[in-house]
Amino acid sequence: MRFHRALFPVAALWVGSMLMSSLSVAQTVPLELKVSATPKKISPDLFGIFFEDLNFAADGGLYAELIRNRSFDFDATENPSWNALTGWDRVERGGRGALSVDATVPVHANNPTCAVLEVFEPGDGVGMSNAGYDGIAVTEGEAYDVSLLARHLYSGNRWGGPRQENVVAPATPPRAGERGPILVRLETKEGELLAEASLAMPGKEWTRLTATLTPTRTDKEARFVLLMNVKAGVALDMISLFPKKTFRNRANGLRADLAQHIADLKPRFVRFPGGCLVHGSGVGNMYRWKDTIGPIEERKGQANLWRYHQSMGLGYFEYFQFCEDIGAKPVPVVPAGVSCQNSGFTGGTGQRALPMEEMPAYIQEVLDLIEYANGPADSTWGARRAAAGHPEPFGLEYLGVGNEEHITPAFKERFKLIYDAVKAKHPEITVIGTVGPSWQGDDYEAGWAFTREQKIECVDEHYYVAPDWFWDHLDYYDKYDRNSATVYLGEYAAHDDGRRSTLRSALAEAAYMTSLERNGEVVRLASYAPLLGKHRRTQWTPNLIYFDNTSVSPTINYEVQKLFSLNAGDELLPIEITSDADASKREGKVQWTASCVRDSATGDLIVKVVSRSDAALPVRIELGGLASSNAKVIRTVLSGDPLAENAFGVPASIRPVVTEQTVADIHAQPLPPHSLTILRIVKKN
Ligand code: AHR
Repeated sequence: MRFHRALFPVAALWVGSMLMSSLSVAQTVPLELKVSATPKKISPDLFGIFFEDLNFAADGGLYAELIRNRSFDFDATENPSWNALTGWDRVERGGRGALSVDATVPVHANNPTCAVLEVFEPGDGVGMSNAGYDGIAVTEGEAYDVSLLARHLYSGNRWGGPRQENVVAPATPPRAGERGPILVRLETKEGELLAEASLAMPGKEWTRLTATLTPTRTDKEARFVLLMNVKAGVALDMISLFPKKTFRNRANGLRADLAQHIADLKPRFVRFPGGCLVHGSGVGNMYRWKDTIGPIEERKGQANLWRYHQSMGLGYFEYFQFCEDIGAKPVPVVPAGVSCQNSGFTGGTGQRALPMEEMPAYIQEVLDLIEYANGPADSTWGARRAAAGHPEPFGLEYLGVGNEEHITPAFKERFKLIYDAVKAKHPEITVIGTVGPSWQGDDYEAGWAFTREQKIECVDEHYYVAPDWFWDHLDYYDKYDRNSATVYLGEYAAHDDGRRSTLRSALAEAAYMTSLERNGEVVRLASYAPLLGKHRRTQWTPNLIYFDNTSVSPTINYEVQKLFSLNAGDELLPIEITSDADASKREGKVQWTASCVRDSATGDLIVKVVSRSDAALPVRIELGGLASSNAKVIRTVLSGDPLAENAFGVPASIRPVVTEQTVADIHAQPLPPHSLTILRIVKKN
């Protein structure tokens, strides 16, 4: 047995030999827990989130932009069926024209192509339409900002022909009530008008044109339509449609409802932007942070490793801003100078490395990121942050380097260069290394050996395993060396049959999270993965939150994450079993587990008990002098059919039930079968 009672008394919770005689009968011997009065400090940052643009989590998801391919930069190297006009359709309303692509005068070197709209015969308008990401959802009475860059190419005939009358002068705004030469509209998919605004003919240089559209009714699948009603040619780029209402009303911001669900998790940190997305499919596809900041037309979109286009509209500034808005610490992850080992679908052999001669510049790029986050507003990169509207530093404390890499000599050589440079210049930053994609195996072993050798301070572990694995490994971190690196459990989830988000999977995660608390001096951070999955666009299951263009559907696993986060503590109070009632095992299987933490800010004591037993479980909790018998207890219970899930599009069947009682009442109620029970003993009534 690996359990050492003297060192980790709380593990005694699940160690026992008495088997439950019958599961159909409620257990009658109460479970007796004694909470120790001697606290031990644990990580105050334990429960956070991991965001990756997978399953259309960013573009088409959290990032509030409603136009797909606003920059005309999709191309066949990203997806063989794509071109620069993917997402756009030519529209001819009784007229005639052409829609093409041009690269002669780009708006910026990072944004090489634009669209050219030419109207030969205006009719009732010639132009282009965009259906967004599976339709554009608009709400009656809400304002939507249109913004685009345009350049007047010519009026009348492009190549000679008769002289044109009534040519529209560039840059002359339409008078009030007058329809301008360019119209922007929201329409139903059948073409009914929902909102319309006029734009002036742009000047000869790239000109920003803006308007606001307020639809007269709600439509889940609207289209954005741009029409020109004069004979002319214009170049167009960065055609954007953005809801005015974003999360915290940030410009270039996030979808409010989705962001609010994330904020409600009260995560202590946000790991971003990936995942495999970070190290990318080949060295040319790594996520380079400098490509993601500044005006949106200057950002460099690229193929997403998950096989769609990343606009980079949600870039490093927006990530930092979001973290600040929700009170979470940013945990950015940069590539370790090597690409994903599965690049090009090579099944583990595709890792490619940046040439060594490129490493000095790459290392500088990593150091520049720290300056961008934390440097003074008059430093080179701090000034870029200030120019984006945030002169104050973002307070970066953590930096991830690499993501579950294959631990090769090329990886180790590059990681060490980056690690040493960051620690030399910024000893205040906690650098997080990586130990492969599993809780065991060659990369795990090699990653840990390298971690110990290099004295890396914290490492990122990942595992996606069956619910039983979590119950079977509640002692996983008990055996970790307290004098070596701390752990960031950066990605984990219980994968139940069919990869469904069942209560059974959520309780397995809850059980494991009590063990993370019990080991909170070695496990510093932990985040479920992945966070978001767009309905019908999901590439990976399960995810914590599902959504479509108008609704958000949190899983039971989300409820667990939220309950742990809202009931986190920074001190552990070990629990001991004081009775002989440890019926925690049935046929050798642990049936329940528990933890107790204190939140030093409020003084509240929080006991969590997770049971996967089919039987109700009477419980006695001895709090000694820690709380008086009339102290208020907020009891939160999540329980039900272990195979139930809160499926997308149907009302949630499993929700936390909150009641209030006193310490004296705790024992009157047994723990329900298949449950997470949280008893928050409130210090100040
Ligand atoms: O969370 C989904 C993926 O799983 C991540 O991108 C990767 O790090 C892991 O393999």
